[in-house]
Amino acid sequence: MITRSLFALAAPGALALALCLPVAAEAQGRSGPAVRAPAAAVPATRRPVTFAAEAPSAGGVLVLPLAAEGDLAGRAVTLQTAEREAVGRALTAAKFSYEAGETLNLRGLGAWDAILVVGLGETPEAKAWQSSGAVAGRALRDEAGGLTVLAGGLPAQAAAEFAIGLGLGEYRSDFHQAKARERTPTGPVTVVTDQAAAAEALFRPRGEALVEAMAWARDVSNEPANKLYPETFVERAGAALAGVPGVSIEVLDVPAMERLGMGAILGVGQGSARPPRMLILRYRGAGAPAAPVVLAGKGITFDTGGISIKPSTNMGNMKMDMSGAASVTGALMALAKSGAPVNVVAVAALAENMPDGRSIRPADVLTAMNGKTIEIVSTDAEGRLVLADALSWIDANLQPAAVVDVATLTGAVRVALSDDYAGLFSRHDALADQLAAAGETVGEPLWRLPLHPSYGADISSTIADLKNGGGEGAGAGTGAHFIGEFISPDIPWAHLDIAGVAYGAANDTKPAGSAGYSVRLLERFVRDFQP
Ligand code: BES
Ligand code: MN
Ligand code: ZN
Repeated sequence: MITRSLFALAAPGALALALCLPVAAEAQGRSGPAVRAPAAAVPATRRPVTFAAEAPSAGGVLVLPLAAEGDLAGRAVTLQTAEREAVGRALTAAKFSYEAGETLNLRGLGAWDAILVVGLGETPEAKAWQSSGAVAGRALRDEAGGLTVLAGGLPAQAAAEFAIGLGLGEYRSDFHQAKARERTPTGPVTVVTDQAAAAEALFRPRGEALVEAMAWARDVSNEPANKLYPETFVERAGAALAGVPGVSIEVLDVPAMERLGMGAILGVGQGSARPPRMLILRYRGAGAPAAPVVLAGKGITFDTGGISIKPSTNMGNMKMDMSGAASVTGALMALAKSGAPVNVVAVAALAENMPDGRSIRPADVLTAMNGKTIEIVSTDAEGRLVLADALSWIDANLQPAAVVDVATLTGAVRVALSDDYAGLFSRHDALADQLAAAGETVGEPLWRLPLHPSYGADISSTIADLKNGGGEGAGAGTGAHFIGEFISPDIPWAHLDIAGVAYGAANDTKPAGSAGYSVRLLERFVRDFQP
């Protein structure tokens, strides 16, 4: 039997080999039209970033971050007096508030195409500097010329975070439009700071890797499901991680999952022409003995609901139902590409949930890898099923220091927390506190919700060990409780329900679509993790 399982250091050759193995003996393979995706969309080119003590000669756009009116004189010393005074008059006339992310775009001053003033807010903190940078990056995403950021007098960290924000803000989700092919590359960013070396050290490699990983996660989430499905998710992760030191990649295909008894993820995937995959990414950056932090992501590349089909309004958003898998993959990517001294494993549980003659039905009973039987109440509660096998596999194969799963799991968490917080569930206070702290630091906040023992009764079944949906009660909590049934209670485990925050309309810092929520949070959390 061909296993396609692969466990090798990600030398480009080894990876290419893995990705080229034939898709033979697929138990769920279909005859009919080929389902291979066409070539990927136009890749976004990001502005290159440098930090320098001196401003380059005038031209392009000047970006002027200010926390207060009094900052102008010192920050803009390199401007000619007349220009500086004109900026000051404009700020007064516009009643500029200096709040984080407020902007004033001045055209036609001096030799600049524009001078963009950006408020930094009163509180000097990383997330405000970064989001101010993101506002600037987004506002200037169509500017062909270079950007000169005046960061003199700001802490090195502010300069670095502003540059990270610029990179996040210039992200575009319109990569399938013709204009993406015609777009001329945008000019470079020069951050002018008296602390160029310190800012550079903060930005590279870590900040740069984070920007790249966030863009990767957003790209795969935004990609529609005719182009992004379990196999192509695996390909894209492999391509992004090819040759990164310390990374190894293992892929479980359908026969491999059958041998392991992963009846839950196989059940979810069996109605789709795109077979499921379990993608296991390992990054070893710390000394060998350190137990890894393990991240598991829900990777439903499209969630129609299956036989329990969803209403068609907004169903298209369910192309982003693999955002958890994108986030855990992106977080590992950011850590690995910056050589972080940590051991981390990311598991992406990938399947497409479709209605079909072969689909699972309500009342079916599936058996997960750990032997537990699951009565299907709703085929639309599929995220917990794929995570059941992911966590069972983790439990059986790894000795994790902690396990965090991330999923667009429930509409209920959107009702509870809207897009202001992701839901956090854990029985381990120390782990919950570390996750909440990381979320607070990076500006991806979490709100802890209970795992009440009564949720166990809500998902008890009369015909199987448990069922995949509860009654009228706490929908996000019963989903979390279900997932927790598949990891040993002695392993610190937390569940993040990102259904309310994973995607949304455009705002000042991002285009419509995926937010990449939890890439930054998980990167921060894993770096700071204390067992
Ligand atoms: N992917 C959905 C959850 C979701 C809803 C994410 C809205 C983003 C926006 C998930 O698979 C789902 O359908 N959950 C059900 C669970 C129920 C059937 C127990 C839900 O929330 O209705
Ligand atoms: Mn669903
Ligand atoms: Zn779903």
